[in-house]
Amino acid sequence: MKKWIIILLFFFSVTVVRAAGTGEIVLQEARFHLGDAPAGWTEPGFDDSDWQTIAIPEKWHGEGMYAQYRIRFQVPDDFVKTAPYKRNAIFDLAFIDDCDEACLNGKLIGKSGRMPSEDGQAQSAWDKHRIYKVDARQLKEGENLLTVLVWNRRTRGGVYGGPFVVRMAQLDDLLEISCSEDGSADHCRISVSSDVRIRARLDVAGKEKRARLKPGRVFKRDISYDGSEPVKLDVSIRDKRTGQIVCKSFTPKYCLTPPAPQEPRYNSPAVLGVRCGSPIYFRVPFSGLRPMTFKAYGLPEGLSFDEAMGVLSGSVGKDGEYPIRFEASNEAGSSEGSLLLKVGDTIALTPPMGWNSWNCWGLDVSEEKVYASARALIASGLADYGYSYVNIDDAWQGSERSDDGTLLPDERFPDIAGLGDYLHRNGLRLGIYSSPGNFTCGGYLGSLGFEQKDADTWNAWGVDYLKYDLCGYRSILDTLPVVKRADHMKPYHLMDAFLKRQPRDICYSICQYGLEEVWTWGASAGGNLWRTTGDITDTWDSVLRIGFTLQRELWPFSGPGRWNDPDMLVVGRVGWGEGLRDSRLTADEQYSHVSLWALLAAPLIIGGDLSSLDRFTMNLLCNNEVIAIDQDPMGRQARCLMEKDSIQVWGRPLSDGSYAAGIFNMGDEALDVNIADILTESGWSGIGVCRDVWRQKECRETAAIPPHGVIMLKFNAIDAK
Ligand code: GAL
Repeated sequence: MKKWIIILLFFFSVTVVRAAGTGEIVLQEARFHLGDAPAGWTEPGFDDSDWQTIAIPEKWHGEGMYAQYRIRFQVPDDFVKTAPYKRNAIFDLAFIDDCDEACLNGKLIGKSGRMPSEDGQAQSAWDKHRIYKVDARQLKEGENLLTVLVWNRRTRGGVYGGPFVVRMAQLDDLLEISCSEDGSADHCRISVSSDVRIRARLDVAGKEKRARLKPGRVFKRDISYDGSEPVKLDVSIRDKRTGQIVCKSFTPKYCLTPPAPQEPRYNSPAVLGVRCGSPIYFRVPFSGLRPMTFKAYGLPEGLSFDEAMGVLSGSVGKDGEYPIRFEASNEAGSSEGSLLLKVGDTIALTPPMGWNSWNCWGLDVSEEKVYASARALIASGLADYGYSYVNIDDAWQGSERSDDGTLLPDERFPDIAGLGDYLHRNGLRLGIYSSPGNFTCGGYLGSLGFEQKDADTWNAWGVDYLKYDLCGYRSILDTLPVVKRADHMKPYHLMDAFLKRQPRDICYSICQYGLEEVWTWGASAGGNLWRTTGDITDTWDSVLRIGFTLQRELWPFSGPGRWNDPDMLVVGRVGWGEGLRDSRLTADEQYSHVSLWALLAAPLIIGGDLSSLDRFTMNLLCNNEVIAIDQDPMGRQARCLMEKDSIQVWGRPLSDGSYAAGIFNMGDEALDVNIADILTESGWSGIGVCRDVWRQKECRETAAIPPHGVIMLKFNAIDAK
């Protein structure tokens, strides 16, 4: 292949280096201007001689600002002519924090995110790899101009992750597969833009289709599938001239949970713990057609029941166990459900379920967004499966306290008490966040020195859950000559004492990332749950580390009222800010994530935005049998019982005498397994009735487990290891 070396000569131009032999033009420097864009700056003739020169990649400073990059580069005469595929050039702009708009010779070639100038509402795109496919006719021989407008919300912004690269498309770039859901049926689109003769082979679940493509044609094929089982799309294209083949595989999202029956069905939980005299908010978790009416029998004194809404409220003045029976009826029929109300010292008898604002909204949270999720929790039906906490994470706090020390909310939270009322009326619960330090991780005011005041304030607002995050307290620990475990425990004990003094139950979530083996002392510091690791993110590596690796030895420490918390569910639309995206976990990885969390008896706190849930995510979160395993009253966390090649088996006993297990495929290839053999190898003997809980069907003898996927089972066995 011809080698190009281009040296930039023009006095106002910037250096452009051509990586020898790769057919790439590497752009390493730009003319740079910070602030609003001057008129005509995207035009080649614009005079940028007084702009500074900046290296790519290099971040710039400046909050909520625009910046402009002008990059002149030379395109050799034979750049397009000698390329194997002449239709498209690829502009790889690596990563840009935050939104960008790129033009080639004055014409828009791509943009990511949304700048506030468009309608005042910015949309973040900082973690999106910018690859723009451009009609190669737009490239001129000789000098070209790439301009990039960037807007950034936070202090450091700009281009990062590598220099920009311009190259001609390779065979791989010609093939695109995209799948989306349109509500009823699922569709995938495969497109190949060819400028040479290409053969395409498409294999959908073993059914093969072939196509021949003439130059200049775009081949588009829509595949629809019913989405109830995994369908693997294997597409390969072959360049007839060179014989080169490119293969891509893709498994679109698929829904395993069968639709809930139309008649009422009682879902989890079966037990509810409350302290004597504390207010109860409990929405009876019946799925099924609405409208639905409800009845409750066996209510202890002090409780009342809203028959139209199915909401239990009031308080019980005497410790004891109170079996309550509910009935629900709708157009399709009626059914019953029962709850054992345990009035005593222990709350959170089953792992908390609900939603938290952090994984979707990050520091851009507002009362409006929390309301939207709370409304969606009800309207989508998630609340009918036991999801009940609506938790505001960091960034609700204002910048000061009132004269009497009361922490005032930010103006984005005009009425937290009103939000609490709304949730309670609907049988749901409110959660809030703070830090034992001066400041939270997001830089907002913490509770240090105001612990009692804050606990009182939260009680007045109707708060039912506190996530107390170490963050700013680390700087206090740093001042100690030697940090002992007791020093880590101290601030948590302190807040616990004030929470316990409140006339309500506040579920206490300790968040300090597992430091000092919190699982060994979290319960004695009053915690009902404690984070065992750092923050989760929506990648398989993160789920692997946080779930499969770091929870292994923690099973002895968890149980009713005291749960290990491997962090929130990274499902649905997440983004930690304004640019929400679909979780980057594949469908199979999401099944594994939720299965493992249920087996671990982990809190099921949804991290995605509830107001934009797709059918797949709803299906994933509303499997009553999977949830029942998580919510099993015995509360035994699963152990890893077998590990062989790429298989891991995690299992736990359940309160009805049966067992639950997940057979996980940690590898990158699908695996065929014999279920009975695997269970026997994992230590169970005399296996009886076996149910595939995702499909809610009897298990088959063998199963094909997709890469990073799972088969989740509930079964009877005579004996277990
Ligand atoms: C982290 C915590 C996250 C989130 C964040 C808020 O320390 O682990 O879950 O709460 O702080 O700033």
